[in-house]
Amino acid sequence: MTAEPLLRVRGLTAGYGEIQAVREVDVEVRAGEIVTVLGGNGAGKTTLLGAVAGLVDVFDGEISLADRPLGGLRPHARARRGLALVQENKRVFRALSVRDNLVVATPRLGRAEFDAREQNVYELFPVLAEKRRDPAGSLSGGQQQMLAIGQALMAGPSVLMLDEPSAGLAPRLVAEVMDRVATIASRGMAVLLVEQAVHQALRVASRVYVLRLGRCSEQEDFRGADKQRLLDHIYLGAAADGSRT
Ligand SMILES: Nc1ncnc2c1ncn2[C@@H]1O[C@H](COP(=O)(O)OP(=O)(O)OP(=O)(O)O)[C@@H](O)[C@H]1O
Ligand SMILES: [Mg+2]
Repeated sequence: MTAEPLLRVRGLTAGYGEIQAVREVDVEVRAGEIVTVLGGNGAGKTTLLGAVAGLVDVFDGEISLADRPLGGLRPHARARRGLALVQENKRVFRALSVRDNLVVATPRLGRAEFDAREQNVYELFPVLAEKRRDPAGSLSGGQQQMLAIGQALMAGPSVLMLDEPSAGLAPRLVAEVMDRVATIASRGMAVLLVEQAVHQALRVASRVYVLRLGRCSEQEDFRGADKQRLLDHIYLGAAADGSRT
């Protein structure tokens, strides 16, 4: 791919107080591509997304969106620049209808623009259109995950970050959510996908970064690479660290 990266993370060290949970990490995501970040429990995946979103302290390094640095900006300002994060096990507002969940997630917009974004969400996730008047609490876990992604899309982001969207979903639903993520990317979004569902993530991603103990190793075009070796690297390596049983 030749296009300039939309999201660029360089030399990122970030964490909590004394803890450096990610160290010297470089990640780039271009418009229209899905880049997946894999790694065992505690590898630093959520920390990486949190640092990009402005939720986790950055100790060193640079994060930029469309060549504009994000450093020092609060999460809301980053969202206005075009960054969206769907956190792991993101809760929707259970008492509100599906549609109202989309309304509350949307910045002030003209009616036509709101309608267009709402239709886009319903087109991606037709089950949400069917259930638009139902309370979100009545949706299945998979449908709530789709709604959480839909909420993120209502902000009209250029970069979508997803933290384990497959968590807690039945395998068939995982595949469906991944297919939708692929559709979203194919329309020009840059997607940074953190996953534990390795096979599904590799199915849709164009590039992969593997995090281990906060450090990153990239496999450029892994489609030609040996998936088993990649899996061993993630999980046997993590087991050897004692961070996964
Ligand atoms: N709020 C926090 N305060 C202190 N340490 C934290 C905090 N959140 C995470 N950590 C530590 O930072 C490291 C990376 O955690 P992180 O949540 O980023 O990993 P992860 O790859 O997302 O793991 P998982 O697969 O379990 O979601 C871990 O050692 C974790 O214990
Ligand atoms: Mg995590």
